[in-house]
Amino acid sequence: MSSTFDIIVVGGGPGGYIAAIRAAQLGFKVACIDEWKNAEGGPAPGGTCTNVGCIPSKALLQSSEHFEHAGHRFADHGIGLKELHMDVKKMLGRKDTVVKQNNDGILYLLKKNKVSFFHGRGAFAKAVEGGFEIAVNEDSLVAPQIIIATGSSARALPEAPFDEKLVLSNDGALRLDAVPRKLCLIGAGVIGLEMGSVWRRLGAEVTVLEGLPTFLGAVDEQIAKEAHKAFVKQGLKIELGVKVGKVSTSKKGVSVAYVNAKGEAQTLEVDKLIVSIGRVPNTTGLNAGKVGLKLDERGAIVVDEDCRTSVPGIWAVGDVVRGPMLAHKAEEEGVAVAERIAGQHPHVNFNTVPWVIYTSPEIAWVGENEQQLKARSVAYKAGTFPFLANGRARALGDTTGMVKVLADAKTDEILGVHIVGPMASELIAEAVMAMEFKASSEDLARICHAHPSLSEATKEAALAVDKRALNF
Ligand code: FAD
Ligand code: NAI
Repeated sequence: MSSTFDIIVVGGGPGGYIAAIRAAQLGFKVACIDEWKNAEGGPAPGGTCTNVGCIPSKALLQSSEHFEHAGHRFADHGIGLKELHMDVKKMLGRKDTVVKQNNDGILYLLKKNKVSFFHGRGAFAKAVEGGFEIAVNEDSLVAPQIIIATGSSARALPEAPFDEKLVLSNDGALRLDAVPRKLCLIGAGVIGLEMGSVWRRLGAEVTVLEGLPTFLGAVDEQIAKEAHKAFVKQGLKIELGVKVGKVSTSKKGVSVAYVNAKGEAQTLEVDKLIVSIGRVPNTTGLNAGKVGLKLDERGAIVVDEDCRTSVPGIWAVGDVVRGPMLAHKAEEEGVAVAERIAGQHPHVNFNTVPWVIYTSPEIAWVGENEQQLKARSVAYKAGTFPFLANGRARALGDTTGMVKVLADAKTDEILGVHIVGPMASELIAEAVMAMEFKASSEDLARICHAHPSLSEATKEAALAVDKRALNF
């Protein structure tokens, strides 16, 4: 069957399905193609985020945090439990239900917005009069405007391909049906810390091997140091500055050879290995060459700041292009492209894209950190406020960490906000809003915050920029 559309979106992750919905809202006739299959072979839109990323990882983080609290924190509240056990299969079942609810929700939203959904792989067939032809299964779809949102996949170690039984990507890491006795993660980035936390909380002995000599180099140094201290205290073994060598598998498990920061050769024997060393853009199978799309040396689609590719009429958003690999960044780009096609003038501000690491304590930040400001020779003032001095954090029994506000020394404009502590993922929204409105630290400090709330720590950190915190 051959059909024509105004816009075809290839990829149904957060970049793609959101672009499709926004385009449909703007009155376009839209098709969205996605190839992800659920366990029964049916459609499972939502991409990496919904199926093997944001959503299932947060479901497991929640379950494992409940388990840890029940085992170690409930007693402080006077709650006694006789026998605590973890039913890993049930936990995975719950996670799968959460994923399915999201898949179904997206299918419903596409239908509600009259987006035609095609389940299968979309590949460029050729440029045709009036646009581009995309083949999907037996269908050929034609549109003058194409939005590519094909996402990314886990990067493997060159000599240790994923078998998802012993050597796991994020996919296998979310499907372990028993708690490994010993677990190694290569890469102390976002996935390494989140997945390492899940399995450590459930009882695994976890070692994280990181190639760089610094812990979380992209995070504000003071915040990263505080987080490192908390993770080590929890029992996460983190080795920095290692060089990973041969990885071999056997019936017994996985053997990881590496050289540590002191130059000593080491071997780690574990039951499972999770490799979390970054991700690669998905362009294989897209037939990008058929229409002459330019890719960079990483295989990402080259785009300008407005997500235009090298071929007029073809756009690309999300993990398959430059920039942070985050679901909300993909969504913002998807919306902006749909609006640009409609002749509007949207803008995605990369400086106010928040980052969150959903460990405990959570780490969240927006804008620049102290290292970056120093490197740019920007004169700034810093204000910090510890959760130890926050009434709500004390009541919660979670006083680790702090809020830090960085502001321009002359204008007082907020340049960055960095948080390590409870609910940092929610607290950061206020900072993003403040920065979007170009607020000063004085503005933030003068806003009335509910008491007792964790958000008071943000207000106090803003007051501390002017050395007038009230509760510390
Ligand atoms: P994807 O979500 O990867 O979607 C691309 C879709 O396109 C997929 O469904 C794919 O099957 C499909 N596709 C690819 N090629 C074709 C083709 N030729 N034809 C048809 N379909 C195709 N980000 C956050 O912001 N917060 C988090 O908490 C978070 N947690 C994460 C946890 C993990 C374990 C991982 C791995 C990632 C996490 N991310 C998180 C990152 C986030 O998942 C990605 O940034 C986001 O999914 C990118 O969206 P996207 O639409 O660009 O691509
Ligand atoms: P990452 O880029 O966050 O971390 C990879 C880490 O591996 C880095 O610290 C890097 O130095 C290290 N590394 C690379 N090669 C190595 C090697 N050979 N040996 C040892 N260490 C090595 O990538 P990760 O954790 O795989 O996640 C991919 C992306 O997914 C993230 O960058 C993020 O964009 C997204 N994500 C976002 C989440 C969130 O928003 N909460 C959660 C999980 C993933």
